[in-house]
Amino acid sequence: MSSAQHTNANGLIEFYQEYSPEEDQDRTNVHYEMPVEFFYAVTGGKWNVYSCNLWDVAGANDPTSSQEAKLDRFAHLMNLQPGQRILDVGCGWGGPLTYLCQKYGVEGVGLTLSPKQKAAADERIARAGVKAEVQVRHWEQYTDDRPFDAVYTDEVIVHFFHLGDFFKKAYSLLRDGGVMLNKELHYVHPRYSEMNRAISHINEIYGFTGNYRPLAEELRLANEAGFDVKAVEQIPLSQYKKTAGNWLDNMDEHKDELISLVGEEYYKRFKVYLRIIMRTFAAETMTLDMILSQKPVSQSKA
Ligand SMILES: C[S@@+](CC[C@H](N)C(=O)[O-])C[C@H]1O[C@@H](n2cnc3c(N)ncnc32)[C@H](O)[C@@H]1O
Repeated sequence: MSSAQHTNANGLIEFYQEYSPEEDQDRTNVHYEMPVEFFYAVTGGKWNVYSCNLWDVAGANDPTSSQEAKLDRFAHLMNLQPGQRILDVGCGWGGPLTYLCQKYGVEGVGLTLSPKQKAAADERIARAGVKAEVQVRHWEQYTDDRPFDAVYTDEVIVHFFHLGDFFKKAYSLLRDGGVMLNKELHYVHPRYSEMNRAISHINEIYGFTGNYRPLAEELRLANEAGFDVKAVEQIPLSQYKKTAGNWLDNMDEHKDELISLVGEEYYKRFKVYLRIIMRTFAAETMTLDMILSQKPVSQSKA
């Protein structure tokens, strides 16, 4: 980890640092290469989804069903059909990709920067017997000869400094008419991106790879890459409070096991991180949005 980082007047490392793919990997893996069992105990449920889930849907009152409700929403927005091919950029431990392949009859590729996540995902995919593969690869270095019907990210693009280039990459990987779905937190105004100690604690957990943006900026970048922006759907932050609250409950329930896995200091740091997230949501400076974009069908084929 070598780059010079810009800091603010209080000496805090700012958001929006540009790193090489290798440095992105080293930095994000400060977090994602922590033991798989730690994340499995914290996230819980059958799919170990590490992002906000949906609890306000009928029947979604436990971790597994809230994870599935969110993934069903993704599938609906992307209009997944059997036989289609999907790309999950930032696939975690493979739970979401496995679920979508199993339930919707699609095949998929997942990208992660973490070898431990890939190993866990490979195991899960083999157990489920679905048609999916996971690669340890930065999206900037991913190429494919076969087009995808859908490319999606779930709370991943915060790690991307070159978001406009990511959209261009997704565009090039999609068939004409294919869709891109991104779910992420957004500032309601750029002024809220100012760094303070609490937010710096969150950014440090992820190796200082944070790039939160206003929604308007993300929409503009999608258009500039050639996409039609078809839908913007907001998820109430109450859903994230419930998800993070569930993770905190899991941390209490599995305290001894978690401390033996990561040590008491990290255990405490992680709890502080989750509490800061909850407080940030209460301040209402962010929204959580799913943005569906489509690569237009070229005029000659329309
Ligand atoms: C917060 S986790 C989200 C996991 C999953 N989407 C979910 O909802 O459970 C972020 C994931 O993004 C991956 N990631 C971060 N930067 C990446 C990059 N540049 N290329 C590929 N994957 C990346 C991490 O390795 C990790 O798997």
